[in-house]
Amino acid sequence: MSMTAKPEAQSFDVRPLSPLMAAEVVGLDLRRPLDTATRDAVYDAFLEYQVLVFREQTLGKEEQIAFTEQFGTLEEHMARNRGAEIALLHVVSNLGPDGKPAGKIGSTGWHSDKSFRPLPSLATFLHAVTMPPNGGDTCFANMYAAYEALPAAEKAALEGVRVVHSWEHSRLHKDGYKVPEEDRIAAPPMSHPLARTHPETGRKSLFLGGHASHLDGMSFDEGRAKVIALEEFATAERFTYRHKWRKGDMLMWDNRCLVHRADQNFDAALFPRVLHRTCLRGTAPA
Ligand code: OGA
Ligand code: MN
Repeated sequence: MSMTAKPEAQSFDVRPLSPLMAAEVVGLDLRRPLDTATRDAVYDAFLEYQVLVFREQTLGKEEQIAFTEQFGTLEEHMARNRGAEIALLHVVSNLGPDGKPAGKIGSTGWHSDKSFRPLPSLATFLHAVTMPPNGGDTCFANMYAAYEALPAAEKAALEGVRVVHSWEHSRLHKDGYKVPEEDRIAAPPMSHPLARTHPETGRKSLFLGGHASHLDGMSFDEGRAKVIALEEFATAERFTYRHKWRKGDMLMWDNRCLVHRADQNFDAALFPRVLHRTCLRGTAPA
């Protein structure tokens, strides 16, 4: 009788990295498929800590895609990855066309990945391939904690309020980039509940970030001012975790209850910073 190789159950430890969120997952080699029980346990830790950090991993592109797919449906990247050989894995890098550090990194404003989509990203996986000797951190702000810290009257006032997320707005607002017609059609402005309920934990959080433009049913200026004020409140230091990367780190974070940003706290004209990124498709925020 022939036996097909079954992935063995793998055990791992979870070590919290801050009182608020993020935990190291120690003992797994992510190149190996996870058995169902292990995958479910990792996913439970992900729901509990929102950011998981797997140290000393060495996944190739296809291996990262395979790892990501164990947790859901992969999402294709839009503008930046056009024509890329593997559309499901996006290379985040500060390298110019000549392969040398070009002095600038992207994604330095707070955001939730693809929040302008009807089905925004569930999770993002980022694998450190080449990192500067220091800095180039990624920061996370916990939107559960921010929501929970609001006064009761403010929470009540947010009921039913919808926020418009727009790719066009965030490009124009952040770097004066005018989005081409085809991208505008592919990603029209989308409104989502400002206070959303996590579909798996049932906890409420604020759904904000750089793609959030203004509020539905209110003048643009008034809604914009509210979005800015709320974002400033929600990204205060006390709601954040700063990830200091080590080469080989694989991060997995929950876009449904966090915003994040890259910190250019290193010389981006001198040191390369290259990461591999995959995303999982989420559900319509409610
Ligand atoms: C991203 C992102 C942050 C970073 O890939 O979605 O926001 O630190 N990256 O590079
Ligand atoms: Mn991002």
